[in-house]
Amino acid sequence: MTIHIGAKPEQIAETVLMPGDPYRAKWAAETFLDDAELVNEVRGMLGYTGTWKGNRVTIQGSGMGMPSLSIYANELLKNYGAKTLIRIGSCGGMQPHVSIRDVIVAMTASTLTSPSRGFFKELNFAPCADWSLLRAAVNAAEAKGTKTHVGGIYSSDVFYDERPDLNEQMVRHGILGVEMEAAELYTLAARYGARALAVLTVSDHLQTGEALPASERESSFGDMVEIALEAAFSG
Ligand code: HPA
Repeated sequence: MTIHIGAKPEQIAETVLMPGDPYRAKWAAETFLDDAELVNEVRGMLGYTGTWKGNRVTIQGSGMGMPSLSIYANELLKNYGAKTLIRIGSCGGMQPHVSIRDVIVAMTASTLTSPSRGFFKELNFAPCADWSLLRAAVNAAEAKGTKTHVGGIYSSDVFYDERPDLNEQMVRHGILGVEMEAAELYTLAARYGARALAVLTVSDHLQTGEALPASERESSFGDMVEIALEAAFSG
């Protein structure tokens, strides 16, 4: 047990999928895992462990934003020995060729700041995905026929943004989408010798103002869970 995760050490798998929303962790575990068992409900941040095609996997909510994700990722990596962490979540599209429902596999994650900023001080660390996971996720997405983009994303600290000029710079530099967690996940995985990836569904678009209808959120989220599971266990 840790401060924020009530599971016994053996109740957490080496592979952990991390949606921001704890209810999505519940839905994904009930939909895709065999013998899913609730292993955490501290602060309502639900976590489940079960098997997928015979492989043990935990699906643990991370909460929204890098400070929240940092708490769960730190405890999973340091106290539970997690080796593979895959964020599954949504993002806002930032480029004209990126549409809602598309999937983004994040090669890098830029930030303005992050919980690790104080630690790195003058250094600008470049958070990047694990190559083996990235390649496997792209293969899985292509096999499913999902329209997929691979490239850089922006992990922002704010959803309600008062600095549109920052987004403009990200767009200008080819950044595909904006979310709020991946950069710290990649940084922590690097620090503790683990593998990390973020697989994201484009749920809204900053330029067109389009948004995924609530009725479609579940099915597009399901594609992403399958891509993440295929990537985690691709050998
Ligand atoms: N901004 C930040 N995070 C997000 C967004 C967004 O537009 N959409 C989904 N996650």
